[in-house]
Amino acid sequence: MPASDRSSILVTGGAGFIGSHTAYLLRERGYPVLVYDRLSNGACPAALVEPLVRADLTDTQALEAAMREHKVEAVIHFAASIEVGESVRAPLAYYQNNVAGSLALLAAMHRQGLDKLVFSSTAAVYGNAAFDPIPERAPFAPSSPYGHSKAAVEQILADHCATGGLNATALRYFNAAGAAPDWGLGERHQPETHLIPLVIQAALGQREQVSIYGSDYPTPDGTCVRDYIHVKDLAEAHILALEMLLDGGHRGYRAFNLGTGQGLSVRQIIEAVREESLRRGDRDFLVEEQARRQGDPARLVADASAARSALTWHPHFSDLQTIVGDAYRFFAELTP
Ligand code: UFG
Repeated sequence: MPASDRSSILVTGGAGFIGSHTAYLLRERGYPVLVYDRLSNGACPAALVEPLVRADLTDTQALEAAMREHKVEAVIHFAASIEVGESVRAPLAYYQNNVAGSLALLAAMHRQGLDKLVFSSTAAVYGNAAFDPIPERAPFAPSSPYGHSKAAVEQILADHCATGGLNATALRYFNAAGAAPDWGLGERHQPETHLIPLVIQAALGQREQVSIYGSDYPTPDGTCVRDYIHVKDLAEAHILALEMLLDGGHRGYRAFNLGTGQGLSVRQIIEAVREESLRRGDRDFLVEEQARRQGDPARLVADASAARSALTWHPHFSDLQTIVGDAYRFFAELTP
């Protein structure tokens, strides 16, 4: 069936970083999209996909009315609190937003007869994994309330799918990065805690310096290694997972890692931003080595071979230059 003949796709958290890029790409592909977001962090993307329902997930009246009025057929669920550090300080808020919010959504879907869901999960469910690269079969060992909340929702989904009441795919992202400046979209977190935006802000003179959290890790240059994946490649994976559900190509529950399988160190990221900054004639910036940040594993790299074979997903934008170049352009040209 052509995408434009379908009923709507509900995108919870569709004003957030990955949600907004996915909503935009869905609309580009001709899907009717309904964004459902409470706009709680105050930073709304310039290119927000309309229509938008501004409400909380636990507002089941608003949620079910949106599902009925827009003839929703499937849901992509991003809405969540996402900061590891904040989750340690405010665990109840994380379980409320992430677990209770997801339960409210699942109950509403059940009452409205909806049985197709793509869920935004995270590599944080693995914690300090004993595998390298990390496959989906690695046991869950989250090291933060954030990771626990996502792992709990995955368990709920697996149990619910086992009853036959739901077909769901969870996508576990490694380090989401990049931007889509041509779409008017990028990363805006308040406060910002992620490495790439912080380094770019330093290069743009918006921050004094960059901190390296730990230079004594057992990695080639002593700094943490992560698997950075471009947000446009993540958006594509959501659409592939959605289409398998819509076409009946997948029933029950399953989960996929999304990453490149290639690790990059904190120093490599800083150097790539420095190069881009000098190429653009922006300023150089100071780098200071600090103590380790609590809870950071030395190396987190995905084994994403299952997503490649089962979803036919292949990252096209996740080389370091494209990730840094797109993120830089977003901050330099599109961020007030
Ligand atoms: N880092 C610095 N200096 C900074 C900020 C970060 O050295 O100013 C380092 C961190 O210690 C880490 C790396 O850069 O080693 C990446 O840090 P980010 O905060 O950008 O990302 P994380 O790897 O901590 O977290 C990301 C997502 C989480 C998700 C996790 C899963 O942001 O939501 O991956 O592994 F849970």
